[in-house]
Amino acid sequence: MIGSHDRGFWNIQELHEESLLAKKTFIAQPSDVFICSYPKTGTTWLKALAFAIVTRKNFDESSSPLLTTLPHDCVPYLEKDLKQIEENHKTHFPLVSTHLPHTALPRSIVSSNCKIVYIYRNIKDVIVSYYHYLRKYFNARVEDAPFEEAFNEFYQGISWCGPYWDHILGYWQASHDDGSNILFLKYEDMKQDTASNVKRLAEFIGHPFSKEEENAGVIENVIKLCSFDNLSNLEVNKSGYHRPDGPHAVENRLFFRKAKDGDWREYFTDEMIKKNR
Ligand code: A3P
Repeated sequence: MIGSHDRGFWNIQELHEESLLAKKTFIAQPSDVFICSYPKTGTTWLKALAFAIVTRKNFDESSSPLLTTLPHDCVPYLEKDLKQIEENHKTHFPLVSTHLPHTALPRSIVSSNCKIVYIYRNIKDVIVSYYHYLRKYFNARVEDAPFEEAFNEFYQGISWCGPYWDHILGYWQASHDDGSNILFLKYEDMKQDTASNVKRLAEFIGHPFSKEEENAGVIENVIKLCSFDNLSNLEVNKSGYHRPDGPHAVENRLFFRKAKDGDWREYFTDEMIKKNR
């Protein structure tokens, strides 16, 4: 599945071609806000939060499209949805998501100093989350897809958009460049103190909460709407499909597993822990 290697990063063959197309043809608007992440670091949650923040004047928690639509279908994906992003430019909807490493981003994103929100997460939980996602996607039995094998590949940097640490480093280094505009959010911090991170996110993307909204509990409502418990129990996320008409339809439920910090403890051997120090 992981077939292409470009500028030190792995990609899925089919996405590689689409990524190159995006790199060549996509023209960012300075008002675009990019949600950038390595897979399995909390992208679904961040997309939901950003979408709820940006659209809160149009919808509340009882009418939000998030109640009937997977967050990934609410925010277009640079590697796949170029047409939709063009349409969104016309309506000034600013959010675009991508898993591309910083070096593979279309030039205009960097030259327009677009805002970038980058989420990252404890590598051990990313490995476990990635393992489960792929195993379920391929319908593989645990006996046929042992965790140890997945760990070893990941550890060598062979994973979709990997190596993970180079992905983070690329955005981190870019954040020191003149004019760069990158907000880093850590999944674990967001879980620990969701409200202040949601406020930071809203301010950064140019949709800060007013005092009146804060007093009226709008932040709490956004948090509740986008919570794992709420989203993972919605019918659409239990039984729907992401890109159902394409060759790689994914069950929505695969984007919601446990959302638990430290789940790696159930899977890592002492040797794996040593290697990850
Ligand atoms: P686990 O596999 O550890 O449960 P991504 O969205 O980047 O694919 O990451 C998926 C991970 O985020 C999964 O982690 C998933 O359960 C978790 N997740 C999905 N929705 C979430 C939410 N609303 N809040 C917190 N975590 C969420």
